[in-house]
Amino acid sequence: MSYERFLRPALFRLDPEAAHNLALWAISHGLIRGRVLDDPRLRFSACGLDFPNPLGLAAGVDKNGSAVNRWAGLGFGSAEIGTVTARPQPGNVRPRLFRLPEQRAVINRMGFNNHGARDLAMAMSKRRTSIPVGVNLGKSKVTPLSEAPDDYLFSYRHVARFADYVVVNVSSPNTPGLRDLQGVSALRDIVMPLLAEPLSRPLFVKIAPDLHLDDITQIAMMSKEVGLAGIVATNTTLDHSSISAKQDQQGGLSGAPLFEKSTAIIRHIKSVAPELVVVGVGGVFSGADLKAKLDAGATWVQVYTGWVYGGPLMPYRVLSEYLDLLD
Ligand SMILES: Cc1cc2nc3c(=O)[nH]c(=O)nc-3n(C[C@H](O)[C@H](O)[C@H](O)COP(=O)(O)O)c2cc1C
Repeated sequence: MSYERFLRPALFRLDPEAAHNLALWAISHGLIRGRVLDDPRLRFSACGLDFPNPLGLAAGVDKNGSAVNRWAGLGFGSAEIGTVTARPQPGNVRPRLFRLPEQRAVINRMGFNNHGARDLAMAMSKRRTSIPVGVNLGKSKVTPLSEAPDDYLFSYRHVARFADYVVVNVSSPNTPGLRDLQGVSALRDIVMPLLAEPLSRPLFVKIAPDLHLDDITQIAMMSKEVGLAGIVATNTTLDHSSISAKQDQQGGLSGAPLFEKSTAIIRHIKSVAPELVVVGVGGVFSGADLKAKLDAGATWVQVYTGWVYGGPLMPYRVLSEYLDLLD
């Protein structure tokens, strides 16, 4: 059954969040399957982990790990679960997720709706996947910025043991003040306690595309200095200049309009800190997009919006296109 012709029109008739929840429910129950492309040219190792391919699921799709064991079967080479916060929280009021099909984009202001770190630990303990699985940590809305390090540490202590890598998310535009934690000294206060934990995991920081390049350089230098594995670049953007006033909504913009900027940021990080692993994310829809991010220096690439528009066979298609480009 063609996703574009049948399933997508049906899902897109629903409210976007209802469609997301329905699709996630169907995936977690094995009712929607993808196709796996197994090819030695796609395999690679990074951070001591073996990846079957370089296209991963981005954070935000599976916030509670309800489908943690399904992403490999949908063709992804890795999956990032979360964002999880220390405490369970409902997120912002609905509606908070908007499709912009003509722009191949999405705007969201979900606000880290999730079941909290304790629940995620339960879900992740049932994990039996062949692909690397990361967990993305955020700050609970009720926790003041000054207590952010404890909030991240609480989540880390609950979920890191079930994860292959951990991401400190300081770049969602939908938690008041969160992006201020991208300042090098605030960020250092968050990551140092995590790095000091006896249970060690490759640690990443996920950054916003709206930072100045100088600030990104500073984050890269600090990451290198303290021993982070790398940087996930990037989260959604607050630059809505490509969106007409009629279609605009408050929140983070993702998808095609983010592609160039997020790719340029990968290139920038690799130019100032080549030893860092960069996970590239933002506006990937095709094999050519995947290749552009890898060529810019990403070790692997993630997708959210492109998968919403492309459907369950999207990873297979994108990886096939990528292999064709290599030939
Ligand atoms: C609806 C929605 C929810 C998201 N939730 C999260 C999240 O919880 N944590 C996070 O780090 N990123 C989140 N993101 C950002 C994505 O992981 C990704 O960084 C961004 O959307 C750019 O990639 P894309 O253009 O492929 O969507 C979310 C994105 C969308 C569209």
